[in-house]
Amino acid sequence: MIASNSSNMAGKVCVVTGSSSGIGKATALGLAALGATVVMVVRDQHRGEIAKDEIVAETRNSEIRLEVCDLLSINATRELVRRFGSSYSRLDVLVNNAGGVFASRQNTPEGFERTLALNYLAPVLIARGLAPLLVSSAPSRVIDVGSGEHARGGLDFGDLRVTGHYSSRKAYSSAKLMLTMFTYELARRLAGTGVTANVVQPGFVATNLGKNSGSGLQSALFRMMRPFQISAEKAAETSVYLSSSVDVKDATGKCFSKMKEVKTSQVSYDEEKQKRLWDVTSGLLSLPKGSGY
Ligand SMILES: NC(=O)c1ccc[n+]([C@@H]2O[C@H](COP(=O)([O-])OP(=O)(O)OC[C@H]3O[C@@H](n4cnc5c(N)ncnc54)[C@H](OP(=O)(O)O)[C@@H]3O)[C@@H](O)[C@H]2O)c1
Repeated sequence: MIASNSSNMAGKVCVVTGSSSGIGKATALGLAALGATVVMVVRDQHRGEIAKDEIVAETRNSEIRLEVCDLLSINATRELVRRFGSSYSRLDVLVNNAGGVFASRQNTPEGFERTLALNYLAPVLIARGLAPLLVSSAPSRVIDVGSGEHARGGLDFGDLRVTGHYSSRKAYSSAKLMLTMFTYELARRLAGTGVTANVVQPGFVATNLGKNSGSGLQSALFRMMRPFQISAEKAAETSVYLSSSVDVKDATGKCFSKMKEVKTSQVSYDEEKQKRLWDVTSGLLSLPKGSGY
């Protein structure tokens, strides 16, 4: 799978989170096929090794590395950022792809609801933590994998930790709305640095998403929808396109689906709310507020 007008990516370092399966694995494979050095962030070493071996065998690109990290943990995610910064001198593409749906509420050891932690807080920590490296490697790109579901999401600034009533769909769509708004705010803050930031909506894709949600009913519903879903390889085309194509080298603060720019919900473009979300999130994660990134 080579996206239209994709550049040769030899010598470029690309990070893809959640790349042991689904869209992330297909994205890692697409970037490996273009010659990039791909750092696969996975939560399970064994599954990661299997995916990596498959990618190396298929692409004959041996520059594929593994980083094991449970992105549900804020502390482990911070440690990943620290480790990456001390091991790599450049970063050309960051694809924040890992995500998941959880049928029931459960908090992470640091006290965050899991859907929020995985789909929103982890990508924020990684993008902001690696921003200095992205800037020093510019031109470089951040791609956050959102969802059309963001349009059902809401923002409750008084309860970003999601301590109130829990619905898996609401938690997921709200986390994806926050990720979309974060990307737009990040793009503005990175303007002039040579680093772009965009969101991808992969569509309705046949992957493991929803399978391991913890709800038999939800898993069965996902299985029933299989005939209407596209393949992970097809879905990954937009992530690979945004990572590599000269067509979109200057595109920033936008959302793409099927390799075309699409609009997101009205509230996602509210700059006041984007700024407030940035500040509230900075407070939750003990990150600097202010005007930087
Ligand atoms: N499928 C869809 O229809 C659809 C639609 C819109 C958006 N998306 C988004 O697309 C992205 C990729 O999802 P997918 O559909 O490809 O689903 P998937 O097959 O379940 O892939 C999710 C990836 O995230 C990884 N992951 C999950 N929890 C993790 C954790 N705690 N730490 C580190 N990695 C973790 C998974 O690792 P394991 O391999 O170990 O499970 C897997 O590699 C997600 O952000 C999802 O929200 C999907």
